[in-house]
Amino acid sequence: MAHLFNRNVLLGVSGGIAAYKSAELVRELQVRGAQVRVIMTHGAQEFITPLTLQALSGYPVHTELLDEHAELGMGHIELARWADLLLIAPATADLIARLSTGRADDLLTTVALATPAPLMIAPAMNQQMWKDQATEANVNTLLSRGVQIVGPAAGLQACGDVGPGRMEAPAVIADAAERLFASGKLAGKRVVITAGPTREALDPVRYISNNSSGKMGYALAQAAVDAGAITTLVSGPVSLSAPEHTRVFQVHSAEEMLQQCLRLLPECDIFIACAAVADYRPRIVEQQKIKKGPQEVTLQLVRTPDIVAAVAAHEHRPYTVGFAAETNDVLAYARDKMQRKDLDMIVANDVADQAIGFNSDDNAVTVLWRDGEQPLARASKSTIARQIVHLIAQQA
Ligand code: C5P
Repeated sequence: MAHLFNRNVLLGVSGGIAAYKSAELVRELQVRGAQVRVIMTHGAQEFITPLTLQALSGYPVHTELLDEHAELGMGHIELARWADLLLIAPATADLIARLSTGRADDLLTTVALATPAPLMIAPAMNQQMWKDQATEANVNTLLSRGVQIVGPAAGLQACGDVGPGRMEAPAVIADAAERLFASGKLAGKRVVITAGPTREALDPVRYISNNSSGKMGYALAQAAVDAGAITTLVSGPVSLSAPEHTRVFQVHSAEEMLQQCLRLLPECDIFIACAAVADYRPRIVEQQKIKKGPQEVTLQLVRTPDIVAAVAAHEHRPYTVGFAAETNDVLAYARDKMQRKDLDMIVANDVADQAIGFNSDDNAVTVLWRDGEQPLARASKSTIARQIVHLIAQQA
């Protein structure tokens, strides 16, 4: 297995005695195919020198937030963008507290805020500090944001205590990082995702559409690829490039989207309807551009096909997931929609809050299935997508 092949792992090292194990962790990540760059906090440098990690990683170690030389090379925003995974090991109690409150008072915490990549941490601290309610609350905050936590292991500690708080073994941490990318959760499963808006033509140059950016659907496609799925996007017009290893069918209207999805059904195990399909289309599509005329005109609209309901009613029915954007009684309406359209799962989105949802980079949702539900706290669409894919893999 070298599932970290071609993956960029940004390793954050904070100031605990377990920092000496980070040297071995660099090696374990590289053995699995990763490119590794390292950020050290000031505390970490009291335990292990940057030179050690530079020699092992093959790159200069990053230590300063405000460093004009560093910013000339690879600055903190570039580092944040470079990473496919930010892995912090060891993560001390202080670092976990700073992450949970969103502090950005050094390079590592700033990059943690600035990166769209998933965050995985391997806590390491005295067992009493680990058990403290403050740490517990901070860890729960991070968990609710989709942060992956590896360990800690229990056993004899450097301070002489015995209990939970030892950093997990480097090989165990590297395995967890590998699983994140090739979880195999959906290995070999064929996933079809609809994304973006549809355009319903009025005449050769005009159409009815909506503001859907397609970001959520494309993030789901990336998460499905990462989970090992054979992934297909059926996409309305958006200005996004598709993730690698994804087959894309570009469509315009709801009818085209439906036909393309039906064609794909014989090779589909999981169908995720994320597109913002127009509910109505003009009854007549004029062959020529409509001329300006009277002060008032009336458009006659007719309903478009309900794609996800058609898929769910099909004889080759895949595991079918829909979305429900609601402004009030979100969960009740979503559950009703799931039953009406005969879906296996629905992702309920409260769009009363303008700051999240339709066209933003973040989302906050509740995922409902027939006998359960799971709220997912506000996070980037890529984090939410990974969590949705994780739940689909569990339930499908
Ligand atoms: O009925 P409503 O539009 O609220 O349902 C939203 C869900 O149904 C989403 O999953 C959306 O992709 C899907 N849908 C569809 N075809 C339509 C309308 C909605 O697949 N014509």
